[in-house]
Amino acid sequence: MTNATKSEIKKVRKAVFPIAGLGTRFLPATKVMPKEMLTLVDRPLIQHAVEEAKAAGIEEFIFVTGRFKEMLNEHFDYQPELMETLEKRGKHELVEKVRECQLPEGSLFLTRQPKPLGLGHAIWCARKLVGDEPFAIMLPDDVVLAKTPCLKQMVDAYNTTGGNLVAVMDVPREDTSKYGILDAAETKGNLTNIKGLVEKPKPADAPSTLSIIGRYILQPEVFDYLEKFETGAGGEIQLTDAMAKLIGKQPFHGFHYEGQRYDCGSRLGFIEANIAFALHDPEIGADVKKIVKSHA
Ligand code: UTP
Repeated sequence: MTNATKSEIKKVRKAVFPIAGLGTRFLPATKVMPKEMLTLVDRPLIQHAVEEAKAAGIEEFIFVTGRFKEMLNEHFDYQPELMETLEKRGKHELVEKVRECQLPEGSLFLTRQPKPLGLGHAIWCARKLVGDEPFAIMLPDDVVLAKTPCLKQMVDAYNTTGGNLVAVMDVPREDTSKYGILDAAETKGNLTNIKGLVEKPKPADAPSTLSIIGRYILQPEVFDYLEKFETGAGGEIQLTDAMAKLIGKQPFHGFHYEGQRYDCGSRLGFIEANIAFALHDPEIGADVKKIVKSHA
């Protein structure tokens, strides 16, 4: 499939944040509190994802929420009592920090996934809000520490290639059954042409070790396949299976981003991410380094 010409490439203005999962790997922490509210240094995972989307020029933020997830929407609301109290106390820096969480009026859109039937189903629940234009998907439990935010890198690449783009990283072969895996054709620069996609293949069956991480730019035609509600790996409606059906009909690339990805959906990945982000924090980084050394 050849790349789209520049005039055909529609701007990516919308991002979907699927946040209706159960977060079972973090129980009991996630019994009442959503996984996406877990704190990476000083802000919840969902705020890291929203900030990354803002840096990529996203204008509309679509949350696919579920039961007990209201806290996630409220985090981005105006909080007048808190702001007033902080103002009165002269805590201007904190006022700024709280203000940074607010999303511009009319830019946050909510839809619900009544049952966690899988990532593909969650994305399908956003179809009316996305409409007929390309859109990004961000999984807030995948966090990328990078000089240029990962989604911004992807949008820049997309503005040349058009079509569909998924962020990819190389994983050890024994881990392929945790990811969507590429059947990869040729690689040019940071783009790999995709021949096929398989969700969670056994190591022996995996066509490569290039795995999809939680950043996507997709064309709206993916909804035509999601609406068939076909179940795949784990009995869930898988986004990977619907994306695989677009291959050959539209350009489809794996994008090799610059940066370090952390799987904040797992306890080990979340702890590693906290250490890495804390070490990069201008206020506490040096002291965190001392603490880490003292535990080595
Ligand atoms: P995960 O695959 O990490 O699933 O979802 P999960 O249910 O949140 O967590 P575990 O595996 O039980 O610990 C990746 C992202 O997709 C969302 C999740 O909220 C998370 O942000 N998701 C997943 C949905 O919105 N709906 C689903 O049906 C499944």
